[in-house]
Amino acid sequence: MLSIIVTKAANNIIGKDNRKPWALEADDKRFDELTKGKIIILGRKAFEALDKVLPERTYVVMTENRELRFPQENVQIVHSMLELQGYIEDENENFVAGGAMIYNLFMRHVNKLYVTELDRDFAGDSLFPRINEEIWSEVSRSEPAEENGIKYSFVEYVRK
Ligand SMILES: NC(=O)c1ccc[n+]([C@@H]2O[C@H](COP(=O)([O-])OP(=O)(O)OC[C@H]3O[C@@H](n4cnc5c(N)ncnc54)[C@H](OP(=O)(O)O)[C@@H]3O)[C@@H](O)[C@H]2O)c1
Repeated sequence: MLSIIVTKAANNIIGKDNRKPWALEADDKRFDELTKGKIIILGRKAFEALDKVLPERTYVVMTENRELRFPQENVQIVHSMLELQGYIEDENENFVAGGAMIYNLFMRHVNKLYVTELDRDFAGDSLFPRINEEIWSEVSRSEPAEENGIKYSFVEYVRK
């Protein structure tokens, strides 16, 4: 089973110039806790944009570039969706963590969305797809919190 984990602005922006346009420590901590011991599927661009590779989890990076290698022990490379079928069918939960191209690719294949929703718009060039209410039910929403002047909530959706 796959779940998406994402942080998005009110206008669905998730990135600008291959970076996240905000800094939220509490959100990074939540990402760390939720993905510990799991598989994290990422597009090559999102992987290269990471500040650091966290231990105690495996990163699976999608690229069409057959020459590409990453030196870290806990980073694997795949070249197609087909190679990820096992993770879709896995009874354990694993994560799809962006970026935009990868979220679009996997939206149909995931059962749950862990979304950190920021309460304002940001400027950017990468968008998360619309969360269609006919497909997704909101099952939990944290009380809003604030960090660096940004209000946010942790929200979970499951496929209807
Ligand atoms: N806010 C958030 O939670 C969050 C999370 C993650 C990322 N982001 C943001 O998202 C942005 C990056 O998103 P993006 O859409 O530009 O790039 P991306 O989805 O991270 O990566 C795209 C790359 O993935 C590879 N790829 C895509 N589909 C593939 C397929 N079917 N088979 C094999 N490889 C495939 C290709 O790599 P090659 O070009 O190497 O072939 C492609 O260029 C950044 O701004 C980042 O900060 C935000």
